Amino acid sequence: MSAQSGTPGTTPGGGQMWGGRFRGELDPQFAAFQKSLPVDHVLAIADLETNLAWSEALCDAGVFTADEQVRVRDAIHELARHWEAHGIAPDDPAEDIHSLVERELVARCGELGKRIHTGRSRNDQVATDLRLYLRDRMFAIVDGVERLCHVLVELAAAHADAPIPGYTHLQRAQPITIGHHALAHAEALGRDRERLIDAIARMDRCPLGSAALAGTTIAVDRDALAERLDFTGGATRNSLDATSARDHVCELVFACAMTMTHLSRLAEDYVFFASFEAGFVRFGDLTSTGSSLMPQKRNPDAMELVRGKAARVQGALTAIMTLVKGLPMAYNRDLQTDKETLFPALRETEDCLAITATALRDVVFDRERCRREAERGYLNATDLADLLVEAGVAFRDAHEVVGRAVDRAVELGVELHELPDADWLALLPQLPNDRRQQLALEHVLARRSAIGGTAPVRVAAEVERWRGRLTEWRADHEEEELRA
Ligand code: ARG
Repeated sequence: MSAQSGTPGTTPGGGQMWGGRFRGELDPQFAAFQKSLPVDHVLAIADLETNLAWSEALCDAGVFTADEQVRVRDAIHELARHWEAHGIAPDDPAEDIHSLVERELVARCGELGKRIHTGRSRNDQVATDLRLYLRDRMFAIVDGVERLCHVLVELAAAHADAPIPGYTHLQRAQPITIGHHALAHAEALGRDRERLIDAIARMDRCPLGSAALAGTTIAVDRDALAERLDFTGGATRNSLDATSARDHVCELVFACAMTMTHLSRLAEDYVFFASFEAGFVRFGDLTSTGSSLMPQKRNPDAMELVRGKAARVQGALTAIMTLVKGLPMAYNRDLQTDKETLFPALRETEDCLAITATALRDVVFDRERCRREAERGYLNATDLADLLVEAGVAFRDAHEVVGRAVDRAVELGVELHELPDADWLALLPQLPNDRRQQLALEHVLARRSAIGGTAPVRVAAEVERWRGRLTEWRADHEEEELRA
């Protein structure tokens, strides 16, 4: 590709599309500053698709003859093959992907390439390209969410009945099962998947044919255009909105930020689980690292990095919302920077989903220790109060007396079920004889078998429900692939 510098009034190597009024050169620093090719070159394939559809629309509208359109189409296909083989030179002088495509089409089909921009603007082009590109990228993120859910569901299946302490305020609260904890994170991710799919559906309308701001002057059939580009929602209905709307970008970044927030919470749980103090899990060699100084260290870095990277995606959400908020209604060049925010956010989210899945496949629970710890710290105190309620004591009174029993147990350095008989009789005379079995860990877990509870039978049932859901998700994909 030639790298000649801009010559006023011509189409220079930079492929400037706006030379007519200009006689001087751009300030070199500003020239580099205003380029978007280093970021938007990833839209290349989408831009070729947009060009192909537009050339067909121009043909239908009588701007190209059928023969001319075939030559443009061949040039587009040739360019696609060329880029597939050689990629795009990162230092290409073109201002953006749209000018680069035009320049390369002119190089391949001469005059026809210069006519393809008839009735079109880069403003509706970039809006269309971005939606096409995002559709694919977002499905990759949806796929990442699904894979991670799959790992969590299998983790839950393997540990549906394994007890672990449950915490509120990071204080031991009640025993739960490891499976229940894993599915809690799966539930959050399941909602993230819905959010992503909703947002994808809302941007499924075609802006092409909106031109710069006021609509195209060419008699194109915009619905046919939308269909050609596989937008199921048809054509956008207002050219000002279509060229300047970026709420779909905000929504997608939000869906990513929310997903990352969920990953960060999961990561935080596992950083704690892996601590010496908790000692519930050990990450394998695939996803832990050591210290350059302290030979004993095995750090849960994968989880910490996921937690850290969530900050960047949340930053992206602030950046994208702030970018849009002050813009007058039409395209403004500020919008070019949306991709600088959006693309890294997508990359981080996709990577973090994959790394979290790898880390959770790499993690080993110390089931014995989890169990032992679930029996320490008075996690069955609520159940003791429930027993008193069953024996006819009002809950508030039961709460009070169990509190006193816990104090006594702390004083003696024992668990509730280990309280000496004399203390039982003094404090809790109403209790049945089988109180020790009733307070046993298995029993405490098993009692919580209503929908949403932590009982092993309920968790096993939820695992089955989840497996069905994952199968449905896979079927959605197959349908999606068939459609594509
Ligand atoms: N590269 C620009 C973007 O990504 C599109 C160019 C629109 N330029 C213009 N002067 N209207 O938003």
